[in-house]
Amino acid sequence: MRQQIEHHAHRYYTLDEPEIPDAEYDRLFAELQAIEARHPELVTPDSPTRRVGAAPLAAFASVRHAVPMLSIRTETDTQATGAENFDARVRRELGLAPGDPPVEYVAELKFDGLAMSLRYENGVLVQAATRGDGELGEDVTQNIRTIRQIPLKLPAGAPAVLEVRGEVYMRRDEFDALNERQRQKIAQGAKGEKTFVNPRNAAAGGVRQLDPGIAAQRRLSFFAYGLGEVSPAGQGGPVFETHHQLLMMLKAWGFPVAEQTSVLRGAGELVAFHERMGQVRDQLPYDIDGVVYKVNSIALQRQLGFVTREPRWAVAHKYPAQEQLTTVLGIDVQVGRTGKLTPVAKLAPVFVGGVTVTNATLHNEDEARRKDVRVGDTVVVRRAGDVIPEVVSVVAEKRLADAARFSMPGQCPVCGSAAVREEGEADYRCTGGLFCAAQRKEAILHYAHRRAVEVDGLGDKLVELLVDAHIIRTLPDLYRLGLSSLAGLERMAEKSANNLLEAIEKSKQTTLARFIFGLGIRHVGEATAKALARHFGQLDAIMAAGPEQLLEVDDVGPVVAQSIRTFFDQPHNREVVEQLRACGVTWTEGQAAERAAQPLAGKTLVITGTLPTLSRDQAKDQVEAAGGKVAGSVSKKTDYVVAGAEAGSKLTKALALGVKVIDENQLMELLNGSA
Ligand code: IVH
Repeated sequence: MRQQIEHHAHRYYTLDEPEIPDAEYDRLFAELQAIEARHPELVTPDSPTRRVGAAPLAAFASVRHAVPMLSIRTETDTQATGAENFDARVRRELGLAPGDPPVEYVAELKFDGLAMSLRYENGVLVQAATRGDGELGEDVTQNIRTIRQIPLKLPAGAPAVLEVRGEVYMRRDEFDALNERQRQKIAQGAKGEKTFVNPRNAAAGGVRQLDPGIAAQRRLSFFAYGLGEVSPAGQGGPVFETHHQLLMMLKAWGFPVAEQTSVLRGAGELVAFHERMGQVRDQLPYDIDGVVYKVNSIALQRQLGFVTREPRWAVAHKYPAQEQLTTVLGIDVQVGRTGKLTPVAKLAPVFVGGVTVTNATLHNEDEARRKDVRVGDTVVVRRAGDVIPEVVSVVAEKRLADAARFSMPGQCPVCGSAAVREEGEADYRCTGGLFCAAQRKEAILHYAHRRAVEVDGLGDKLVELLVDAHIIRTLPDLYRLGLSSLAGLERMAEKSANNLLEAIEKSKQTTLARFIFGLGIRHVGEATAKALARHFGQLDAIMAAGPEQLLEVDDVGPVVAQSIRTFFDQPHNREVVEQLRACGVTWTEGQAAERAAQPLAGKTLVITGTLPTLSRDQAKDQVEAAGGKVAGSVSKKTDYVVAGAEAGSKLTKALALGVKVIDENQLMELLNGSA
């Protein structure tokens, strides 16, 4: 049963190719646990159940490594020359002439974790030790047992003593999940909990937990890349001619070996590998900080030997660091196109992730609070791939005594309107939507939308052009446009300029609902705008309405009411509304719903064919403003069918069902209440 479970654990954790469903594995595991509970005398140290459940330690014991754990030379030149110089050195040491064949290497990933030595005696894992100073490490066996990828038992035929060297690391998804759990604990008031700066720190912390239960929760992983003591040396023990053979043997014994591992020849192939891995680096599920080149032939490795504590046959070729220290020069608040306020740390320029970074987002108020970044702080900045740079953490020891806590401003830094954070939302927003320079383009586009005030032809590109050329600043400027101001614009022929001016002129005649929707008040969509127009009938009534009055409108809850109130409380927004009216934007103001019964209240109309003066949308707006509904098809419940020229099947159906058919004139009479 133990063998079976180990087999499936290996398929799942190491090969990523499970043969049985998770539930089946869990069932097997639970059964073994039950058997061992009933028969403690049958428990063995290599049982898969021993991966978790050992008692906490008081301290780690010291371990003397049978074969010292060396480090390798680090090539900090992250360019191609880093690899070329290594190859040149190897060739020189081996006494190779320029015409001699290329040296064969194994290229591996340089995993960003911590080195580990796993000792197996007679095929059973007996000890796991950290590197320590290379001679003396710490015995972390019970924590390492919790790593599912590490075999507790080797297949038959493995050497009597085998030390496997490799890297313990944490996958990025596990790291994110861990930090999320930590944040929740902190939010619930847990003392002494913290989030982790990066996967390597979290992995190292996990390995050094005295309580293996905590180590198990960290869900660590492992890659093998070398050997320590192996015996019986030379007496039937494995003999490897190449490093690559050794890695394949490790794989056969059940250890994870990274699939990117490649046998390469000459400097050119090393450079290409370094570049290729640099490109996929951010897509890997774990962090690497470089690649490692090793001379493949064990005989040549022996010939090259060591300088002090480092082999001459290997080198670590780094990538530009993705994290750096820098100082915070200031904290700005930026306003996005939709009014969202984002705190951004202004940084002393720092080279990180391959570019110079001067800004890092703090996302929102909660994030800024959580990280508690202050002006003058020394911070860790991270930039990975194309992701925007972020402040990972503050170096607490370096904080200046007088550093003030950051808080979000109550006003929009661009236009001075009130900035509010609604309940349940993470972001502050500027409430000066119509006036705020940051939101100009978005506000104009929204106003001109087909379902709002509708300025035909005024789309994305044109708004971009008009605003960037300072031809339009605020909405009312739209109605002050003339041919002369458009003439100079690139890609604007006279005909298109005339079309635009015509569309702008046409937009002046609108409805109250479209106008309200067009203002872009947060939470006021098309349906709410219609409900407001119907209920109040007049713009001034809406602008003056208090929260209680607003709450009487169908569709309007406290959040929406507050949003409408805040919008019209901004003097700048009111000003823009007045200017639009002064520019000639008009609509037929109705009576408030409570005061005058709406002439079409409760009526359903169907509009078909082409009406003489009204467009389909205009007719629909007017019907709705009068309290009526416009349906798409005729039924017995239809009160009127408004028929224009070339009306077809709907008219026929209306006649068949005996539904009343009217024309545009009769519709107007209905709307005026004079029918
Ligand atoms: S080989 C004698 N290979 O980087 C060679 N090390 O100083 C011993 N590392 O302490 C190391 N990935 O923790 C080797 N593929 C890899 C590695 C690797 C990461 C770490 C290891 C070592 C340090 C190099």
